[in-house]
Amino acid sequence: MANDATGATALHPETLLVHAGTLRSQYGETSEALFLTQGHVYDSAEQAEGRFLNTDPGFQYGRLSNPTVAMLEQRMAAFEGAEACRATATGMAAVTAAVMAPVRAGDHVVAARALFGSCRYVIEDHLPRYGVESTLVDGTDLAAWRAAIKPNTKLFFLESPANPTLEVIDIAAVAAIAKEAGVILVVDNVFATPLYQRPLALGADLVVYSATKHIDGQGRCLGGLILGSKALIEADIQTYLRQTGPALSPFNAWVMLKSLETLPLRIRQQAQNATAVARWLKDRKDLPHVAFIGDPDHPQAEIIARQMSGPSTLIAFEVAGGKDAAYRFLNRLKLIRISNNLGDAKSLIVHPATTTHQRFTPEVRASMGVGDGLVRLSIGLEHADDLIADLRQALDG
Ligand SMILES: Cc1ncc(COP(=O)(O)O)c(C=O)c1O
Repeated sequence: MANDATGATALHPETLLVHAGTLRSQYGETSEALFLTQGHVYDSAEQAEGRFLNTDPGFQYGRLSNPTVAMLEQRMAAFEGAEACRATATGMAAVTAAVMAPVRAGDHVVAARALFGSCRYVIEDHLPRYGVESTLVDGTDLAAWRAAIKPNTKLFFLESPANPTLEVIDIAAVAAIAKEAGVILVVDNVFATPLYQRPLALGADLVVYSATKHIDGQGRCLGGLILGSKALIEADIQTYLRQTGPALSPFNAWVMLKSLETLPLRIRQQAQNATAVARWLKDRKDLPHVAFIGDPDHPQAEIIARQMSGPSTLIAFEVAGGKDAAYRFLNRLKLIRISNNLGDAKSLIVHPATTTHQRFTPEVRASMGVGDGLVRLSIGLEHADDLIADLRQALDG
């Protein structure tokens, strides 16, 4: 198979997302081929041995690698500016592998407390079961990260912007603290998108995605990605993935490869729509709180300007009157659908306190900024005027 000569980092992201990583078979197909195969046959016993010894380049078995999955990994690595990338079956498989693989019993992990519910589960409940202690800190407080470090601290984990509150953490500052302490920093970059935030360039060691979100972007496939240096990925992470088995389906990888071609177009349009919707929401005087990355009044606008190059496709806002008022509003929406997914072409809305963050006590939710009136709105590719009309009738109804 021939590889497209697109390793050059001088190419623009839009170009890399169309061409990078493409492997062409002897048939010279235009579009990336879907290799829906569990494994590969060898020409000889010697070749099989060579594949297992890594002395013969090529594919072996789908749990380890697959040509279509490899194309997705190489395209994403080129886009992100990472030395290596590994794909996983879901975003949570990526988060779990990135956090679990580098640690051992007796190690300590520090994470920001404002996290997606499942990410917080992995840090708070899962790690301690295997003898890895964890500490949650206010991620916006740099002194708290510093104070939490112990001699056995091995890894930091954060999301920025956080799900669902859009709280922002200064990634470069936390990365500097991590570096000084010899700690691995893992950043979940789902809310920022790979188009608008580059955690590796800001000093993070690993970046993880739920590819289910903007990368698929059209509500079809689950997937996850882990990106970072060859040294980190090819050591513990690759071994963890190969031996425990959360491989991405080649079919899902193929869907995502095609999705990457349109990623910048989709995200820019969704972010533009979100900007119009957020402005309209902010102008209403009846909403106690509207959070949007791109709002010049965002309390962390100065950090955002330093580390992000575009706005979010998400808006978090508070409906006055708590859960009952939030439910009345959600149930009146006609175009915007109630769903816990995000980053989709369809605009989706969710009440985090009773869904994604349901398992936490009201006190823990409050510490994460998740109140009973809070809703999280993911803006899609519809016309912004139609979204605003739907929100207006639901808020005024
Ligand atoms: C910030 C964040 N990380 C990880 C995940 C998990 O992704 P997946 O649902 O693909 O496992 C999500 C899902 O909503 C998320 O919002």
